[in-house]
Amino acid sequence: MTEVILRRGSSRRFTRKPLTFPQLSTMLDRATRGIPADFLDPPGATLLTLYVIVHAVEGLAPGAYVYHRRDRSLELLREGNFRNQAGYLGLEQELPAEASVNVYCLADLRSILTRFGNRGYRAAQLEGGITGGKLYLAAYAERLGATGLTFYDDAVTEFFSPHAAPKESGVLRTGKSVMFLTALVHPARRRRS
Ligand SMILES: Cc1cc2nc3c(=O)[nH]c(=O)nc-3n(C[C@H](O)[C@H](O)[C@H](O)COP(=O)(O)O)c2cc1C
Repeated sequence: MTEVILRRGSSRRFTRKPLTFPQLSTMLDRATRGIPADFLDPPGATLLTLYVIVHAVEGLAPGAYVYHRRDRSLELLREGNFRNQAGYLGLEQELPAEASVNVYCLADLRSILTRFGNRGYRAAQLEGGITGGKLYLAAYAERLGATGLTFYDDAVTEFFSPHAAPKESGVLRTGKSVMFLTALVHPARRRRS
């Protein structure tokens, strides 16, 4: 584990070589096995939903997905090559367009704030940050790379809608908000370990 932590460091240059499906499955699974926290009760509970844009994964159609933790499955929301859109959503940068996969941690703040008050926002941010950190470590354990990214909040919610913001009597309601974005990548040059 210490070796993985030392190897960790944000990737800045990638290749477009696809990840394998087992690599992606392992990273998503290891990042979502629960965090011990008083606001995540019972153990294994989560405030987040993970949404994924797949650009390059062997055996998986490029497109927009939602990850179901309970059965560790990816549900296809929309098939397509979304490199340009992912670049825009990631603050118009190349990194999310060039990555193999982008993982967005979203939280339904309306219900979280009702339950926890103002502390709910910090709790959702914390779980998003820890989940992003776990994705980083899982990627480096797989000898892949990762980088955290900034994003246009509302545009991400809209991209994953209606799943991320179901319509209520025909009107798009506020929906879930993004807490953290992690790009998973094939680094162009392997770091010395
Ligand atoms: C929450 C978060 C947001 C980030 N946003 C961006 C970004 O928008 N663009 C970018 O080039 N790097 C971004 N980064 C990567 C940081 O620049 C990088 O993590 C930082 O330089 C520290 O390097 P290290 O991760 O190798 O320690 C982000 C990282 C995190 C954790």
